[in-house]
Amino acid sequence: MRRVAILLFTACSLVWSANALADDQALYLKGKHLYEQSCAGCHGADGKGDIGRPLAGQEMPELIRKMKAYKAGRHVGFNASLMTLRAKSLSDEQIRAVALYISRDLKI
Ligand code: HEC
Repeated sequence: MRRVAILLFTACSLVWSANALADDQALYLKGKHLYEQSCAGCHGADGKGDIGRPLAGQEMPELIRKMKAYKAGRHVGFNASLMTLRAKSLSDEQIRAVALYISRDLKI
């Protein structure tokens, strides 16, 4: 009986983590697409910065915090208005997606 329970638990965990991985991958692909379409023009395809500041090397929570600040109309440097306009058009899911892509792929 105990063995069956352990087996069942293992099977459920595997299905659960496979689902989580698939969700994560879908979010990542959304973020990659969004970045290439809407961010690379100002931040550079490699995220090293251009008109916009460098994003490469930043972690997901930091990126999310900054984008939400722009979205809320708060924040930062003398060019904030350029970014506020962009951030206001992003949903929370898009913000998470693009932050996932940047933190995973764009390294210093
Ligand atoms: C029109 C040009 C432009 C576009 C397009 C743009 N940004 Fe920006 N972004 C900027 C500028 C300029 C700043 C710096 C603003 C300031 O002075 O506060 C900035 C700042 C940021 C910051 C804060 C960086 C830091 O370390 O302080 C993040 C994060 C960011 N952008 C993410 C994005 C993402 C993600 C996209 C695409 C969805 C995007 N930006 C699209 C111009 C742009």
